[in-house]
Amino acid sequence: MILIDGKKIAKEIREEIKNEISNFKAEGKRSPGLVVILVGDNPASEVYVRNKAKACEEVGFLSVLEKHDSSISEVKLLELIESYNKNKNFDGILVQLPLPKHIDERKVIEAISPLKDVDGFHPVSAGNLMIGNDTFFSCTPWGVQELLARYNIETEGKHVVIVGRSNIVGKPAAMILLQKKKFANAIVTVCHSAAKNISEYTTQADILIAAMGSPEFIKADMVKEGAVVIDVGTNRVEDAENPKGYRLTGDVLFNEVAPKCSYITPVPGGVGPMTIAMLLKNTLKSYKLYGN
Ligand code: GUN
Repeated sequence: MILIDGKKIAKEIREEIKNEISNFKAEGKRSPGLVVILVGDNPASEVYVRNKAKACEEVGFLSVLEKHDSSISEVKLLELIESYNKNKNFDGILVQLPLPKHIDERKVIEAISPLKDVDGFHPVSAGNLMIGNDTFFSCTPWGVQELLARYNIETEGKHVVIVGRSNIVGKPAAMILLQKKKFANAIVTVCHSAAKNISEYTTQADILIAAMGSPEFIKADMVKEGAVVIDVGTNRVEDAENPKGYRLTGDVLFNEVAPKCSYITPVPGGVGPMTIAMLLKNTLKSYKLYGN
């Protein structure tokens, strides 16, 4: 069994980007810019956005964190997004989800210019991905593909089974891995909570992607011997022995499943760090394609 080291790969990617940015700077060009908008005080979101801002600074991006009280109106938030759509110093706009109940998430996502949609959540990006146009891919599933590629794990003709159908992970993962391209071209099955017997699907997987947000749901008897298991789950579960009062766990019961796998991602340190690395890649892509 080979442990897929997402932390190491993400660091490599950040180093690659950092080198490119120092070349741009040496040529007197501006840095790529990312604004991260956080509404409210969800503790997990606070950690995510802090890490995003830190990663931006480390590679030499311009990074701004717009932190707003949960009472901000939808209109004000839409105006803020519009101001960054027009701001030529910023190539990417990310609104951290989830948003407070009084704000319509779809309206907010659709307010972001598709040219700055570094999360890949805009319907234009999602549609382009579906029909095979180059576009911004959702960062987490793109990170999954990048891990498979950097470990040279063949996907062509392989049966990829994805558990979970979210717009952020499950559905874009299916679309990315379906593409007729290298490190894609897979046979993809998406299964979800309506499956009567989910094991029927998961045991067929050459590559199993667990992305349903259910702690340690995937047990050893649900996985084929020799499968590649990619765990996208990052669940906080109560843990009185941990000083934080919780621990992070994936959607896979790691200790039981790992011995059966050819490759597996740990949690933490697997897919998680890749999300930010791919966000940086999308921001750099936007800068190169549309920045001036
Ligand atoms: N919330 C959880 N994951 C993400 C993400 O990748 N992007 C945004 N904007 N919000 C999230």
